[in-house]
Amino acid sequence: MSNTDSFDVSAARSADLEHQIAQHPADFRVLTGDRPTGALHLGHYFGTLANRVRLQRAGVEVFVVIAGYQVITDRDSVGHLSRNADDLLLDYLAAGIDPDTATVFTHSAVPALNQLMLPFLSLVTAAELRRNPTVKAESEAVGERALSGLLLTYPVHQAADILFCHGNLVPVGKDQLPHVETARLIARRFNERYAAGATVFREPDALLTDACALLGTDGTKMSKSRGNAIELRSTADETATLIRRAKTDADRTITYDPEQRPEVASLLLTAALCSDTDPADLAASIGDRGAGALKTLVTEAVNEHFRPLRERRVELSTDPGHLRAVLTRGNARANEIANDTLDQVREVMGMTYEKSRQRPTTGL
Ligand code: TRP
Repeated sequence: MSNTDSFDVSAARSADLEHQIAQHPADFRVLTGDRPTGALHLGHYFGTLANRVRLQRAGVEVFVVIAGYQVITDRDSVGHLSRNADDLLLDYLAAGIDPDTATVFTHSAVPALNQLMLPFLSLVTAAELRRNPTVKAESEAVGERALSGLLLTYPVHQAADILFCHGNLVPVGKDQLPHVETARLIARRFNERYAAGATVFREPDALLTDACALLGTDGTKMSKSRGNAIELRSTADETATLIRRAKTDADRTITYDPEQRPEVASLLLTAALCSDTDPADLAASIGDRGAGALKTLVTEAVNEHFRPLRERRVELSTDPGHLRAVLTRGNARANEIANDTLDQVREVMGMTYEKSRQRPTTGL
């Protein structure tokens, strides 16, 4: 299947899933996550975080992995992992992830999850791994010679993230679709090859979010490393400064035209998402008042929308003990589930040596 086909199929499937979620939220378990490389920005928020909170409020159980082992796929130094993990956790909690119902955990605290990687690796070929378009793009970015074994195989590790807790719903942007495809393949092959067709793992579904195309303030993809991102934790003043410097174009009349005017369109989309309005209507309301008026409007919309989240975030950051407790609880729960899953995997694979061995009956 080509990438476009698989995107179309996933988009249609997502609409169908939304319908089922509304009716039977308890049938679903969301697993998703982020690399702890820094605080989250508006692109993350509208692309995935808001959607996680929405699903949680609809009654779906939510698991979020702070994916430490994915940080080292494409860089030599791990950076400030624990500080970055705290920043993620603050963003999650401030955005409304509820630690009483959701499970937030870290890769390295859940050994059984990581052990699933071994049988899972046996289920994919090197050629399949090399074909993954997201891995391809990432390996081009680091250079083929620097392609690490982990970069090539992290989609398999990500399958373990999803399958250890029997997550069946993965809310993602387009770039993560190939990874959900890998998880589906692994679930299917595991059942066929190691479980004689019994369903040990269900195939997870991707739930596509449509608002995943926010650009940074320089008109390229929003990304922390490019310095063009409005972070959730930014103050109102920092937000104003970033937006004031944002790239626009020479046309004074503001129109919503994502093809021809991507920078202006992305600013309009940002304001529209923050104020739950239509970007074209916003453009019309600005008319020929130009980029200055557009930027004022965007700044106000962002600051207004994120004020409560930012206040909660500041408050939460004064209580590091609470953050530790949330992670301790999340990791304990993830371990419990991962141990059960790994036991079942060992069982169906015939790897429970101690149990199956006949004990000597000599009375020694
Ligand atoms: N690969 C994801 C990213 O870079 C993060 C991630 C890790 C993830 N494990 C996951 C996403 C499992 C969905 C499901 O953003």
